[in-house]
Amino acid sequence: MDTYNVKVESPNVKYTNDYIEALYNYTTTKVKKDGNTLIAEPVSTEYTFQTQTKVPRVGLMLVGMGGNNGSTLIASIIANKHGMQWHTKTGVQEANYYGSITQSSTVSLGSTDCGEEVFVPLQKLLPMVHPNDLIIDGWDISSTNMADAMQRAQVLDYNLQVQIRPYLVGIRPRPSIYIPDFIAANQEERADNVLTGTKQMMMEQIRRDIHDFKESSGVDKIIVLWTANTERFSDVQAGLNDTADNLLNSIRNNESEISPSTLFAIASILEGCTYINGSPQNTFVPGVVELAEKKKVFIGGDDFKSGQTKVKSVLVDFLVSAGIKPVSVVSYNHLGNNDGKNLSAPKTFRSKEISKSNVIDDMVKANRLLYKEKEHPDHLVVIKYVPYVGDSKRAMDEYTSEIMMGGQNTLVIHNTSCIGLSPLNHMMLEYKHQKINLSRDGLLMPLSSKKEALTSKNVIKNNSRGQGNSDSEGEK
Ligand SMILES: NC(=O)c1ccc[n+]([C@@H]2O[C@H](COP(=O)([O-])OP(=O)(O)OC[C@H]3O[C@@H](n4cnc5c(N)ncnc54)[C@H](O)[C@@H]3O)[C@@H](O)[C@H]2O)c1
Repeated sequence: MDTYNVKVESPNVKYTNDYIEALYNYTTTKVKKDGNTLIAEPVSTEYTFQTQTKVPRVGLMLVGMGGNNGSTLIASIIANKHGMQWHTKTGVQEANYYGSITQSSTVSLGSTDCGEEVFVPLQKLLPMVHPNDLIIDGWDISSTNMADAMQRAQVLDYNLQVQIRPYLVGIRPRPSIYIPDFIAANQEERADNVLTGTKQMMMEQIRRDIHDFKESSGVDKIIVLWTANTERFSDVQAGLNDTADNLLNSIRNNESEISPSTLFAIASILEGCTYINGSPQNTFVPGVVELAEKKKVFIGGDDFKSGQTKVKSVLVDFLVSAGIKPVSVVSYNHLGNNDGKNLSAPKTFRSKEISKSNVIDDMVKANRLLYKEKEHPDHLVVIKYVPYVGDSKRAMDEYTSEIMMGGQNTLVIHNTSCIGLSPLNHMMLEYKHQKINLSRDGLLMPLSSKKEALTSKNVIKNNSRGQGNSDSEGEK
């Protein structure tokens, strides 16, 4: 079915030369408490989705482009773009995008008159950017060129690396913001490509880099993606980073508690670029969220959560929704790549631990039949650095649950995965947002925001060429 195009015939969908415009009624339920009665009222909200038919040229700027994720993403796109094949010990392997939701998943569109269910590739539902067409740039505190970075990552087969090398050898990352206090001390030896000056000066340089990339590459839109090392959490303090104005002021004052990732987020927002966070630290302090809302820029992400954590959220959701009570969830990991090395420091590990722990909280809160107020399953996360296993991460999880009549159920999962490849599907999904505008009764809602009210009065117009103007209408 991947040769078919999809067209919707509905009074709610309009095709114009520039846009596909869809009216969508989103129904939710408002609950009121009246004594010991809960009153449920259906609420219907009308949204207009406007998707640009012309696919824009999208630039992706990776923070940490020389890491395992970054270098593997770039190398994999080149391999796919050139249809590369290579010999492995089991035969000939072709480049593919397995694991990418946009490139390798299908959606049930409906059924024909004969009752045949029709599945279409997700990418056929709306015009969207193909990963092969992404134009990539970025920063790293290590000056290593992308060919050597790919080799250092030890993710892709050697025979493939040999083919990709000529495309990567000339690509070097831009110098980045390195503040040793925020990542593990063991990263210092690779930090040979760093900006100097005050935080304000470094943030301004990142803005210039974004601007320069846009000018030189001719892209319509840029997404900035943090795939650099996990930082420690930064303190959230009144007067420091609790509002947009306080945060901008703190950057001007060179306050020590402002992290590199927060500086990147601020630079991206001020340049009107979507910012995605692939690591667990609290980049999005309240001042960042407020600024993104003000400037109507998408921000999102809290760790890629692509492997063990993803499985955990799905599995705990399944168990609790089935009325089964997980009482102990224990996760051991060991890995030997640079991410593991950085996470071997207690402060950076703590960020990962918090992010991994959060995933079961919502499910526990959702079922007070199983869990009393303040009751919580035992949940332990251990990560150890074992250099020999390199990028092949081992994750062992044990889920013990209480079932009926005092019975117990224990599930054990052992997952061995090429970790540098696992978050690539997330990286590839984010850019599809770049073409879709959303308005609700004329109100724009950025990803970052739980508050709904922002000010734009009209249907939000996509502004494919207007990026960089922080006062422009939202471009989502
Ligand atoms: N691989 C996965 O499945 C996965 C899943 C979830 C989260 N993550 C997170 O993604 C991030 C990247 O993982 P990785 O395996 O590629 O790690 P990596 O250590 O191989 O790569 C990180 C890169 O960031 C660079 N760097 C560090 N600080 C920087 C800064 N301030 N500015 C620019 N560059 C900087 C490093 O030099 C390195 O090249 C980590 O935080 C990791 O925890 C990865």
